[in-house]
Amino acid sequence: MKKVVISLGGSILIPSLENHTIREYVPVLKKIAKKHRLYVVVGGGGEARRYISITRELGIDEGTSDEVGILITRLNATMLIAALGEDAYPKVAESHAEAKKFGESGKIVVMGGITPGQTTDAVAAVLSERVGASVFINATSVDGIYTADPGKDPGATRFDEMTPKKLLEIVGALALGAGSNNVLDVVAARVVERSHIPLVVLDGREPKNLTNAILKGKFTGTVVSDGKKKPLPL
Ligand code: UTP
Repeated sequence: MKKVVISLGGSILIPSLENHTIREYVPVLKKIAKKHRLYVVVGGGGEARRYISITRELGIDEGTSDEVGILITRLNATMLIAALGEDAYPKVAESHAEAKKFGESGKIVVMGGITPGQTTDAVAAVLSERVGASVFINATSVDGIYTADPGKDPGATRFDEMTPKKLLEIVGALALGAGSNNVLDVVAARVVERSHIPLVVLDGREPKNLTNAILKGKFTGTVVSDGKKKPLPL
């Protein structure tokens, strides 16, 4: 079985508690896990940002605000595990070593954040290295990596493919505060570069995009690769 790591943005899975997509994602993740060994790293979403806005209002430092964000990612991960039932390993992995160990069960492994100063994309990038993933998927709320923020710049265009070096150029210029909302954080980009594991950034707002991409190789998004390993289909 090939290994797949998915960074499932909280903005996709739990943009807010009222608008979660856990119900839609459960069958999608179960289907992928029938063919591949699956590791899912869940983000904090809108609720993490709400908590972090309060910590800032209280004058709490960024590192502590990150810790609050991590707790929310783990809360989201706990809900996803419970919704996946028997198909998921029953505990949130709190380190990469734990995630690797839990993966030996053959069940879907779910985790959230682990350490301040980064996002769950970085967690997922390192996890891809640790488990020897064939591909690292970043399911997010845009359909790929753009020349500029497509929400702010109507002239922004999407890359179909890019090298990890180009990715680093783009994300290296972005700020990283607690709750920041960039397409990928710089730690993740650096790990993608050194791991040689292809990264696919795609639109996770439609859960079926994940099955189409992983099982059929059909997707709209950006492939970040140095050409050493073939991305999708696996
Ligand atoms: P994320 O930024 O990864 O979740 O974590 P998200 O915003 O839901 O992801 P996207 O944008 O949809 O992909 C939420 C916050 O938790 C803290 C950071 O403050 C981060 O902004 N965090 C998360 C950490 O400090 N360390 C981690 O390892 C993970």
